[in-house]
Amino acid sequence: MTKGFTIHATVFLSLSIFDPASVEASKLLNLTNYFIIAALFILLIVVALLVYVVIKFKAKPGAEEPVQSAGNKKVEAVMIGIPFLMVVGFFIMTVDTMREVHPEIASQTPDVIVTGHQWWWEARYPGTGAVTANEVHLPVNKKILLQFASSDVIHDWWVPELGQKMDMFPGKTTHLWLNIKEPGVYEGVCSEFCGAQHAWMRVRVVAQEWDEYQQWLLQKDQPAQEPATALAQKGKAIFNRSTCGNCHAIRGTVAQGQSGPDLTHFASRPVMLAGMMPTTEENLRAWLSDPQAVKPGAHMPRFIFEQDSINALVAYISGLK
Ligand code: CUA
Repeated sequence: MTKGFTIHATVFLSLSIFDPASVEASKLLNLTNYFIIAALFILLIVVALLVYVVIKFKAKPGAEEPVQSAGNKKVEAVMIGIPFLMVVGFFIMTVDTMREVHPEIASQTPDVIVTGHQWWWEARYPGTGAVTANEVHLPVNKKILLQFASSDVIHDWWVPELGQKMDMFPGKTTHLWLNIKEPGVYEGVCSEFCGAQHAWMRVRVVAQEWDEYQQWLLQKDQPAQEPATALAQKGKAIFNRSTCGNCHAIRGTVAQGQSGPDLTHFASRPVMLAGMMPTTEENLRAWLSDPQAVKPGAHMPRFIFEQDSINALVAYISGLK
């Protein structure tokens, strides 16, 4: 471990499907509630019958075997008929919910394209230059289309308060409709085991009113801010000299890599490393000093930097608002 480095729990994850914040999540919860009620009802009947039988037919000294009965058509009809009707009912309700929550897409351009990477999320907004990582901004009260892909292995998008999971496959796209009702920050996780840092592949959905969302998009469409200090200027030179730009893009500079997170507005995101820790200079310094100590397995190689160089890089990157 890097000396003095601690992982701060960044986000108190509240992952619950029982607190739906989108139209789709509400419909899914509605269906789930019917299932839960039916399951509890059956549990209750089964336990009650069991208790009744155990008490009623308890062995007593000197008692004979109770009367054995078989081939009771009425009982059998009820025992087959009720579950059959329930299965049919739930089948219809499920298909109905699926049609409402997950309709076919015609030819719409998605509002956002989310790509899963080991171990972070990339979000692009078609029609704009905005690219971000691990933080997906979406407007509220509008039916939006998310498109998913993967750059390596299978990942799975899951933001419980917003609805269902969706697998992300390499070489194939999937989609999800979302109509978020309440502005807020919703936490999500990757829910398909995808390697060493699967547990630290978290995503934040920031749901905003339309105007606020448009402002955000506009701001994220901008190229990176120029370094404000001499130290940050030095950091920029080191960044460009050290092949960082082979993996990372900082728009408006020569760094145009696509395989790592886009850093153009890195410092505007409150958490780094897919939700692992808050974006602070201290954490950034630890990460640049020894990525493998901070997030073992991450695809960020270790560069042997002088302390001065790390300070300069930290000054540069933490200025990218
Ligand atoms: Cu990505 Cu698990």
